[in-house]
Amino acid sequence: MDKRQLWERYRRYLCSIPALGLRVDVSRMLFDDDLFERLAAPMEQALTAMDALERGAIANPDEQRMVGHYWLRDPQRAPRPEIADEIHTTLSRIKQFAADVHAGTLHPERADGFYVLLVIGIGGSALGPEFVADALGTSDDSLLVRFIDNTDPDGIDRVLTELEEELPHTLTIVISKSGTTPETRNGMLEVAAAYERAGLSFARHAVAITSAGSKLDQLARAQGWLGIFPMWDWVGGRTSELSAVGLLPAALQGIDIDALLAGARECDAATRPHDLRANPAALLAALWHHAGGGRGNRNLVVLPYADRLVLFSRYLQQLIMESLGKQFDRRGNTVYQGLTVYGNKGSTDQHAFIQQLREGRNDFFVTFIEVLHQRASSSIMIDEAVTSGDYLHGFLHGTRAALFDNDRPSLTITIPRVDARRVGALIALFERTVGLYAELIGINAYHQPGVEAGKKAAGAILDLQRRVLAHLGGRRGEALTAEQAAAALNTDDVEAVFHLLEHLAANPDHGITRTEAHPLPDARFRAH
Ligand code: PA5
Repeated sequence: MDKRQLWERYRRYLCSIPALGLRVDVSRMLFDDDLFERLAAPMEQALTAMDALERGAIANPDEQRMVGHYWLRDPQRAPRPEIADEIHTTLSRIKQFAADVHAGTLHPERADGFYVLLVIGIGGSALGPEFVADALGTSDDSLLVRFIDNTDPDGIDRVLTELEEELPHTLTIVISKSGTTPETRNGMLEVAAAYERAGLSFARHAVAITSAGSKLDQLARAQGWLGIFPMWDWVGGRTSELSAVGLLPAALQGIDIDALLAGARECDAATRPHDLRANPAALLAALWHHAGGGRGNRNLVVLPYADRLVLFSRYLQQLIMESLGKQFDRRGNTVYQGLTVYGNKGSTDQHAFIQQLREGRNDFFVTFIEVLHQRASSSIMIDEAVTSGDYLHGFLHGTRAALFDNDRPSLTITIPRVDARRVGALIALFERTVGLYAELIGINAYHQPGVEAGKKAAGAILDLQRRVLAHLGGRRGEALTAEQAAAALNTDDVEAVFHLLEHLAANPDHGITRTEAHPLPDARFRAH
């Protein structure tokens, strides 16, 4: 295609939400003009299914749940008035809580104000808040925000060491829909212990966001935490950013949550119409489907050319892969579906994996995200008539062109600036794209059986650890190999016993040491 044909193609397929200044350019995807005709009927079905979902259908039948994240930004669309009321009430409570913290009327046990916000959560209960905090944070933030999103002791220590002096001024939010996620529970207990060591009451610095009646809810009530905000069963973890999960931390940080909601609402309105070519979410879903043959045969590479959007890549990785990576379709057929997502940011990745994208395996399509407004003040000239922002722009369009010249497809999403309204819109755009794509391939995007399976597997290892410890404890002083310990425990999983012994000996907590310098698999361990 020559340059004139590319320009024509750009004009023909450009899809936008003018009020938001959001554009989706699919011209550099490799498709023929009849694609939209071929996908018209399945897309119509997908859009109809989304309409039903928004009206309150049980779109997540495995868990017998409605899927209502779209109501969060437009409560009047909720299927029952009591749901709309809950959304309104929660939003008012969030704003009041944040205002009280900012005004110092809600203050810590032994200080006049909260200056730091520590958020503990994982997966859908962390990635959205982390993304938004990083994308919209400024040096004027009302509270400094930090996250604990793992059960890694070293990671927890890094955060707690940084906050040690600030603990009396730190408000901690624990986010868990189920209220039983081990990583989050562990983070909470570690942080609670840190408050205790500092002579402070954790309860007087803690807020919970969780489902009514969960273990976390019960604990927060029993201990009289500063606040409890709801997670509803009709909001899934990875689509919860515009519920209390994302809005409370954002409001406390000083982010304009009304703008976040408004951007999402505007994007929802523009992505509801049954018009494939004019609906940006439908267009994206159609091109995802086309690119990977409806089987995820091409990876989706997310490349925002904006540092503030770097965590959008991680956020999308979870939103898309946890939603679409499914063994069974809605009819119970084995399908092994998914769409692999990776990415970071441009132009940084031009010095990392873009080498492979340009010249190596042709197994992907890129989603560039372009931000038009780069800086409020004027820039110095780095070269003659060229700023650093001009370079960033040049790198994006240069890479896009070079990829296309080598038959490597890409999509480009353009937004005018990174602000709360556009961040809300981006979240809504991808939530709906995922929903439509899931309908096209016939899977339930709203459950996560694989995550549950992982939790169970970890439980089995921890049970074995308890048995190993009890056995070594009962033979204190005696040095045993993994083979000997496994035989005594009547398990054939010697390898698991070996890894447990090695882990226990590497840490001071359980009094296990490795005794002699035998070759690794035959190493001996004892309790003392
Ligand atoms: O998106 C999801 O549903 C998951 O990633 C969950 O958010 C994650 O497993 C954490 O669950 P919970 O909020 O129950 O602690």
